[in-house]
Amino acid sequence: MTFSLNVSWSSLVFLGILCAVQAQPSPKVQQRITKAIKAAANATEPVDYTQFVNVFIGTDNFGDVCPGASIPFGMVKFSTDLTGYAPAGYVTDPTQKIRGLSPLHDSGTGSSLGTYGNFEIMPSICPGGFNTCNITLVARERFRTNNTDDASPGYFAQTLDNGILMEATPTRRAGLERFTFPKGSKPYFVLDFTSDLPASFAGGNMAIDPEKGRITMGGLWGSSFGPSSYNYQAFACYDLTNGGTQTLDEYGIWQGNQWGLDAKELGQTHLNLTRSLIGDTYQYGALFSFKQGREITLRVGVSFVSIDQACSNAEEEVGDSTFENIQAKAVALWNEKLSKIEIDVGGTPPNITELLYSSLYRASLTPNNATGETQGVFAGTTHPYFDSLYCSWDTYRTYYPLMALHSPVEFSQIVDNYIDGWRKNGWMPECRANNLPGWTQGGSSADNIVGHFAINYHNEAAELGIDLDELYSAMLADGDTNPFEWDVQGREVNIYKQHGFVPFSVLDASSTGRQTREGSRTLEYSFEDFAIRQVALLLNKTNDFVEYNNRSTWYRNVWDPTVESDGFKGFAQKRFPNGTFSFTSPVDCSPNDNDDSRECSLQPDNEVGFYESSSWEYSWFAPHDTAHLVQLMGGNATFVKRLDHFFNAGYYLAGNEPSFQTPIGYHYANKPSHSVDRVRQVVFENFDITPAGLPGNDDQAAMATLLVFHLLGLYPVPSTSQFLVLSPFIPKYTIHNSFLNTSTTITAKNYDHKSIGKNIPEGVAAYVSNVTINGQPAASRCHFDFYDTFRVGADIVIELVADSGNVDECAGSLPESLSTGGWATLR
Ligand SMILES: *[C@@H]1O[C@H](CO)[C@@H](O)[C@H](O)[C@H]1NC(C)=O
Ligand SMILES: *[C@@H]1O[C@H](CO)[C@@H](O)[C@H](O)[C@H]1NC(C)=O
Ligand SMILES: *[C@@H]1O[C@H](CO)[C@@H](O)[C@H](O)[C@H]1NC(C)=O
Ligand SMILES: *[C@@H]1O[C@H](CO)[C@@H](O)[C@H](O)[C@H]1NC(C)=O
Ligand SMILES: *[C@@H]1O[C@H](CO)[C@@H](O)[C@H](O)[C@H]1NC(C)=O
Ligand SMILES: *[C@@H]1O[C@H](CO)[C@@H](O)[C@H](O)[C@H]1NC(C)=O
Ligand SMILES: *[C@@H]1O[C@H](CO)[C@@H](O)[C@H](O)[C@H]1NC(C)=O
Ligand SMILES: *[C@@H]1O[C@H](CO)[C@@H](O)[C@H](O)[C@H]1NC(C)=O
Ligand SMILES: *[C@@H]1O[C@H](CO)[C@@H](O)[C@H](O)[C@H]1NC(C)=O
Ligand SMILES: *[C@@H]1O[C@H](CO)[C@@H](O)[C@H](O)[C@H]1NC(C)=O
Ligand SMILES: *[C@@H]1O[C@H](CO)[C@@H](O)[C@H](O)[C@H]1NC(C)=O
Ligand SMILES: *[C@@H]1O[C@H](CO)[C@@H](O)[C@H](O)[C@H]1NC(C)=O
Repeated sequence: MTFSLNVSWSSLVFLGILCAVQAQPSPKVQQRITKAIKAAANATEPVDYTQFVNVFIGTDNFGDVCPGASIPFGMVKFSTDLTGYAPAGYVTDPTQKIRGLSPLHDSGTGSSLGTYGNFEIMPSICPGGFNTCNITLVARERFRTNNTDDASPGYFAQTLDNGILMEATPTRRAGLERFTFPKGSKPYFVLDFTSDLPASFAGGNMAIDPEKGRITMGGLWGSSFGPSSYNYQAFACYDLTNGGTQTLDEYGIWQGNQWGLDAKELGQTHLNLTRSLIGDTYQYGALFSFKQGREITLRVGVSFVSIDQACSNAEEEVGDSTFENIQAKAVALWNEKLSKIEIDVGGTPPNITELLYSSLYRASLTPNNATGETQGVFAGTTHPYFDSLYCSWDTYRTYYPLMALHSPVEFSQIVDNYIDGWRKNGWMPECRANNLPGWTQGGSSADNIVGHFAINYHNEAAELGIDLDELYSAMLADGDTNPFEWDVQGREVNIYKQHGFVPFSVLDASSTGRQTREGSRTLEYSFEDFAIRQVALLLNKTNDFVEYNNRSTWYRNVWDPTVESDGFKGFAQKRFPNGTFSFTSPVDCSPNDNDDSRECSLQPDNEVGFYESSSWEYSWFAPHDTAHLVQLMGGNATFVKRLDHFFNAGYYLAGNEPSFQTPIGYHYANKPSHSVDRVRQVVFENFDITPAGLPGNDDQAAMATLLVFHLLGLYPVPSTSQFLVLSPFIPKYTIHNSFLNTSTTITAKNYDHKSIGKNIPEGVAAYVSNVTINGQPAASRCHFDFYDTFRVGADIVIELVADSGNVDECAGSLPESLSTGGWATLR
């Protein structure tokens, strides 16, 4: 999910350019990282990789990254919530104010309303006493002390403009919040029970137990990216006494709104609320103070099951541990993840080291592990459960293929979670948001996630707890069973099968869904069919194989060879049921579209036929059969010219998933040196180490993992075991796989740090001349296979030369494509 539903495509692109905001995190953050990277160059002791992570990358420029304190895949991510556009809670923009600190957030989601932010607490100084405290959102919000924000893996801190320091450190479902007040002030806290970021409260209860020093609450809220008719339940448990060292003074209940309702009652302990049928969003909560203490520590537990479980999560996961103790445990968990990829720090440009580890951090930040915290049809499931799958359309391309390289155990848990969606709902989830079904984007992209797992780990599947027959049944449900409502799961598959494409303006009398995006849905459906084709081949399902092999080529059915744009012929287009194409300009919804009122996302009036893309962009999409695209576009030379034009004329959108593989398209026209140049340009024009250093929404780390692959000089083809080979930005790295017990080291021979820039200077080695695997020449300069490398552990040497012209061919087989006999057998 790249863009919000409520803001038009072009206006966002435009805004992104205008909003140049000053650096907000404390300058100490970057100084600390720079120093750590320098020190690690010569380090002999084990490296603390968390020191290289800049959690603020992507917190500006609509990156929607949550810099909050989290463990890997944590259900809890403590962050402040800010006013304005802040879907992940925090943003760097210093003109926005802080509403409070809260435990639940997502990272990399584009819904402009925001997601979670429930159970927010705001420390306060109320010199006039209890009745003078500002309670409501608007009244209590405050600026930060500028340029003091600080955060790192497992730690978040921000200081209000009144000098109160707020810090947090997490476990999976709980954590500690620590507040340091200015000398001489009495600590007050406004706990907001009802307000989440999208203002979706639909009823619940709260209780203050002054004896225990505990406040408990729970209720119903709505989705940030899905049908508003559904609600999810959430619960929290605040322990106020810090093991008896803090004494509660005043306590009570408040209710307010922005039109002057400001009511408080000292000594009241209960709130019992239902949904406001007239649609009002009252704010309610608790207000309490402490007798003494500049420093107040609160223990917070959350749950999606019950109040009791929220309290027991805090008791079990935090207990009476200190803040430092919890933080140290979080850092250790992060190091376990970050050390899966080790690099030659001394030989790598410091910015590249920081980009790599910051991206790897986000690659394990989401989805949120809510195992044991299930509700609705998943209540009590015995399988792993992950919340916030925003969205499979984003993550199948690079996010899960990266996880497959080093963490098959985690990958298998998430695959099991997808299959569990099929067990419980009949189809795999596409875009789970806030434990609720979210909107479908391209179809059932989960097919390419579980398909990638099956192709790469079928030998280990049973040991990893995955039954391949069950996995295959889940894929077949997506591919063959039309749900009544395909806006949230499955596909419009009956109509698609009937026509061989998803037609525009078709009578669908038996199922409901938003009839837009016909071109891109056909392209994605067809690639989803390829995933099923791959697993059918794996499991010897001969009849299915024939069917899905054919359906893998249906992307061709929306190819209109007559459409011309900028002198290039042949574009994907939507099409009527009778086969006639319905013309839309290939430029529409591209960055070169000068109609900025055009809708390009999920809106009902998105008329272009493509999702968050132009036809210029989506016409490159057939990752399993690019050789045929070369042919459709008029042969190798025209294909290369068209790719050049696509980038030079500004049609490419770095922040958009359908474009992920396009810079490497030259490989398929036998021009791999061109891909090397293009990827250098893409990285340095779109990514850097600043808060604005992402080209838009991180999309649940889809962006982060694309960048990781670019830096490693690799690119994965989903639902296959093939990697495209490029020029690494790092001289030497090792990828560890602790389940397979393998390590693979890639050395970039002749690596020259002068090549690490937007343009590779003349005479500087950067182009791939030879690839050897364990001393043996690889079959091609352009690709190698997981089964020859990462699965068994290998020493790979990628030799680089300066003369691009001499080596600008694959010198062996091209990467595989269906139409040239590719994907004939599986490893
Ligand atoms: C690392 O070692 C090299 C060579 O011994 C030395 O020149 C350099 O100053 C050292 N760098 C740091 C950061 O200690
Ligand atoms: C922080 O900077 C913003 C934007 O320049 C400004 O509006 C705000 O007043 C500043 N806050 C403080 C506490 O100085
Ligand atoms: C509450 O807000 C008002 C208006 O912004 C402000 O004047 C007052 O000082 C605030 N009170 C407290 C206790 O912060
Ligand atoms: C009011 O809320 C409390 C918990 O906060 C609950 O125990 C009680 O049953 C609720 N009362 C009603 C009438 O719902
Ligand atoms: C998710 O949480 C469960 C329960 O603590 C744990 O067993 C599992 O390993 C976790 N998975 C990941 C990917 O963190
Ligand atoms: C393949 O799909 C096309 C629709 O694009 C259909 O006309 C044809 O019959 C199918 N072929 C086989 C062998 O199923
Ligand atoms: C599929 O067939 C091949 C070749 O006959 C065989 O080696 C393999 O074990 C079969 N796989 C399955 C899952 O039946
Ligand atoms: C196909 O249907 C469209 C839309 O109804 C119509 O404009 C077009 O003329 C039809 N084409 C043919 C060949 O009948
Ligand atoms: C593109 O070049 C490759 C390698 O030289 C060749 O095999 C292929 O046939 C060419 N494709 C087209 C459509 O000409
Ligand atoms: C590192 O990144 C910063 C921020 O983007 C930039 O100012 C600096 O020039 C970069 N340094 C190098 C050596 O690329
Ligand atoms: C990896 O090593 C561990 C510990 O030595 C062992 O238990 C496990 O079976 C090995 N896994 C594989 C796939 O060889
Ligand atoms: C490396 O590549 C060059 C140019 O393609 C070739 O001449 C040479 O034999 C290769 N060297 C090795 C060791 O494979």
